[in-house]
Amino acid sequence: MTDLRTVLGEAVGAAFAAEGVDPALARVTASDRPDLADFQSNGALAAAKALKANPRELAGRVAERLKADERLASVEVAGPGFINLKVADAALAARATEVAADAAHAGASLVASPRKVVIDYAGPNVAKPMHVGHLRSSIIGESLKRLFRFRGDTVWGDAHFGDWGFQMGLLIGAVADEGGADAFLADGDGPFPTESPVTLEDLERLYPAAAARAKEDPDFRDRARKATAELQAGRPGYRALWRHMHDVSMSGLQREFAALGVTFDLWNGESDADPLMPEMIAHLEETGLLVEDDGARVVHVARPGETRKRKLADGSVVEAPSPPPLLVISSEGSAMYGTTDLATILDRRKAIDPDLILYVVDERQAEHFEQVFRAACLAGYADEGSLEHLGFGTMNGPDGKPFKTRAGGVLKLHDLITMATDKARERLREAKLGADLPEAEFDDIARKVAVAALKFADLSNSRTTSYVFDLDRFMSFEGKTGPYLLYQAVRIKSLLRKAADQGVAAGPVAIGEPAERDLALTLDAFSQAVAEAYDKRMPHLISEHAYRLAQSFSKFYAACPVLVAPDEATRSSRLTLSRAVLDQLERALDLLGIDTPEQM
Ligand code: ARG
Repeated sequence: MTDLRTVLGEAVGAAFAAEGVDPALARVTASDRPDLADFQSNGALAAAKALKANPRELAGRVAERLKADERLASVEVAGPGFINLKVADAALAARATEVAADAAHAGASLVASPRKVVIDYAGPNVAKPMHVGHLRSSIIGESLKRLFRFRGDTVWGDAHFGDWGFQMGLLIGAVADEGGADAFLADGDGPFPTESPVTLEDLERLYPAAAARAKEDPDFRDRARKATAELQAGRPGYRALWRHMHDVSMSGLQREFAALGVTFDLWNGESDADPLMPEMIAHLEETGLLVEDDGARVVHVARPGETRKRKLADGSVVEAPSPPPLLVISSEGSAMYGTTDLATILDRRKAIDPDLILYVVDERQAEHFEQVFRAACLAGYADEGSLEHLGFGTMNGPDGKPFKTRAGGVLKLHDLITMATDKARERLREAKLGADLPEAEFDDIARKVAVAALKFADLSNSRTTSYVFDLDRFMSFEGKTGPYLLYQAVRIKSLLRKAADQGVAAGPVAIGEPAERDLALTLDAFSQAVAEAYDKRMPHLISEHAYRLAQSFSKFYAACPVLVAPDEATRSSRLTLSRAVLDQLERALDLLGIDTPEQM
């Protein structure tokens, strides 16, 4: 199953080769002038330069050869040597019929050699409330997971639960001071209570208070540091308390992620890498990579002579080795954030042996990953190029700063979804949608509209840019929004139901009207959009395709009646096109992590 751009690329390549030109130069792209052509190749310009030939003449000879190709309706040379290609209606119809029949992939191609890929995303932490960085990571990571799987890779989505750092020491300190958990604080081997001494609400209340207190109260901070080190060293009571806090937090988070349509194959945490720590430290010591640094132990990752400008606390700017060393063991003897990331690479290698690990984490952690990746390659834990940090911009509030709730607090995923669902209900009522549906179904639709609005808003922006949170705009049924796309999909579903009622059967596609041509070309373009989104790890290219498809369908639907088309063959053809659009639209939305309701 090959898309037209690829097929034509091969045809132009063969014509290039016959003219003695490198076929690799024959790149075919969608036309810049859809009024004149469907596709174009600008390769003759570069080729002529290499051959010291006249580009227009070369393009003319290539065009002459292509004229015999019956898949092309016209081949023309324009300007200094562009080759404009118009696809024959029959070839376009055949391709659309093929896309319509491809239930599994809606016309998209698979990767030539599937890989094992781990996608590390969301990264929520025990007790710490999630912030917008976690939200974006969850949305983008979920989409990439589906995209990679769709193209044939074997993919593991891993939440990489933050359960091993300083926040655990802070919580142990806070729980100790609050009382009621004495059984866990005693020295000794237990047994310890099987009932958690803290609830999710307790943790959500205790953590921010403890984090604030640690900033002002050095005693408390030292106790928390010590507790972190003792926990990691294996103190049984702390481990038992840790397990409760871990489990309570995790089940709360799993509920929230489920509401957002985000699921993980692995709920591994930083702590899961702990058993690998002694062996890793020993290895880093043996290889001489782990060195003393002011009481701590670090791995130097800067390359000789490599410097970067760095701003010091007093505001002065100095040249410093870059990136700074990776802190492996703190002076208190604790494993750090980077240590667990390094050990997690080893853990994943043992369990999965992935070809690629993608880290979908806030751009602000770029340096952290640079340190970890370099250390991993130096130590031989990963191959160069097999670890990728996919950073992203922030979701900002109207003030241009990272989004906060009205109360000024960090956002709780649950509250965000509730807020969005309320807004979706309001919008559906205004638009008189779903009014006659049973309440449970209406609620389900509102939830789907809400999630579609949030996810599409995020994924319609390029991953690397920041955007402003504007629920009113995200939730509109008009424009480039999730609700608009759901509405279009639902409209097609209702058309298909009517067709079934009226006994209209689908049949082979025939192309006549310009709107049919445009729709068929758009269906064909999905494969390229998916491949490009995959190569660049940029889900917004799929959002763009989905929007373009919905718009093309709208124009088609306005210009080309389906159920009351003049003859049966046209009705059947247009029904096939409509069904193909629905399949592809639902597929594209699914790749964005968005579910489509049956009706509205
Ligand atoms: N828990 C981290 C945070 O909240 C994100 C984890 C990202 N993944 C990773 N492998 N470090 O910042």
